[in-house]
Amino acid sequence: MRIISCQYIFIEGKIVKNQAVAFDKKILKIAPLNELKQEFDSAEIITFPKGCVLYPGFINPHVHLEFSANRATLNYGDFIEWLNSVIEYREELVDRLDEDLIKFKAQEMLKSGVTTFGAISSFGAELEVCRKLKQRVIYFNEIIGSNPAAVDALFADFKNRLETSQKAKSSTLIPAVAIHSPYSVHPILIREVLKIAKEQNLTVTAHFLESQAEREWLENGTGGFLDFFINFSNTTKPINTIEGFLNAFNGCPALFTHGVQATKEELETLNKNGHSLIHCPRSNRLLGCGRAQIEYVDNLLLGTDGLSSNYSLSILEEMRAALMMHHKADLKKLALKLINAATQNAANALNLNIGKIEPNYHADFAIFKLPNDLKDESAENIALHTILNCNSAQAVYIDGEEIF
Ligand code: BEZ
Ligand code: FE2
Repeated sequence: MRIISCQYIFIEGKIVKNQAVAFDKKILKIAPLNELKQEFDSAEIITFPKGCVLYPGFINPHVHLEFSANRATLNYGDFIEWLNSVIEYREELVDRLDEDLIKFKAQEMLKSGVTTFGAISSFGAELEVCRKLKQRVIYFNEIIGSNPAAVDALFADFKNRLETSQKAKSSTLIPAVAIHSPYSVHPILIREVLKIAKEQNLTVTAHFLESQAEREWLENGTGGFLDFFINFSNTTKPINTIEGFLNAFNGCPALFTHGVQATKEELETLNKNGHSLIHCPRSNRLLGCGRAQIEYVDNLLLGTDGLSSNYSLSILEEMRAALMMHHKADLKKLALKLINAATQNAANALNLNIGKIEPNYHADFAIFKLPNDLKDESAENIALHTILNCNSAQAVYIDGEEIF
């Protein structure tokens, strides 16, 4: 049992002062330090220096660790050119991947305060290392493939990977499912995978309307994806419509990623159906996809995507990029929105007892030191200066254990 004392604590979108947090694996109580000392008289007391702020551990719900070896192999700037480069160099990148590299990249996330991440896995190669990490991992077994002749084999392989991850299930490894995208997954696979997800109560994620090319292909069967599919699988027709794809998720609230090319109405449909949107601003910029209309999104989350479309896995850098990209949004309100996106919104979408400093929640904390000339102590201003000025956490706790 321990008590953390910190000048500022981020609770439900607000900053509280003169409070401390008592915890073991879970949070026990939030109250003034003297009160906690009396109630928990044998507790170890950890005092952070003036100017420190305690947040719930950050959550990065969308990363592809299997592409961690990419630095400059893939072709950035245009989505279709990038996708062609992924197809060309996928094996080389996977060959260059090893356990140490994945651990190193998980550590980069940890340093930025990420205590939970969602790993999208298309081959299952990173399961062993993910189960050894201290971070909480939502292990998204991904289904991908539009070729009708391959549906049975792909589904069997998916079920195998899902089962393997279920055998590895623990308090920090949570099996889940991912449907790659509307352009790349056959509707039969979508239906069958969602059926399993519903039966087994598994969290679901999917890429959705990432690029203009995707929209054009799904709506008209034209654009850059036509050449791509002629080359890739000798097909000339999309397998899903936007509406059909979204309807398949009715009754199954999911985490959709990107939505850059989604209309206001489509984003409102996500809201209405209890879905959330994972915004990945740096990935979207690097692949020439544009800027998501996050102002229409109720359940906004923030993701780094993988190093296949980013230059770092720091969630703080991702927040900074979002602040700069949405240049018309109110600066301080957006800063607070981004912190909420990476904490309570992501936790709600994942249905986990994390992302809040509240009794009975997991004791997952990220503590940062603010600049010592800070004057305005409002939550919005503290959020802003965390994003602008912090590159590394002072300390990170998961399940009450200090791991950074
Ligand atoms: C497909 O099977 O359609 C597909 C697979 C990988 C990338 C894009 C499309
Ligand atoms: Fe992605």
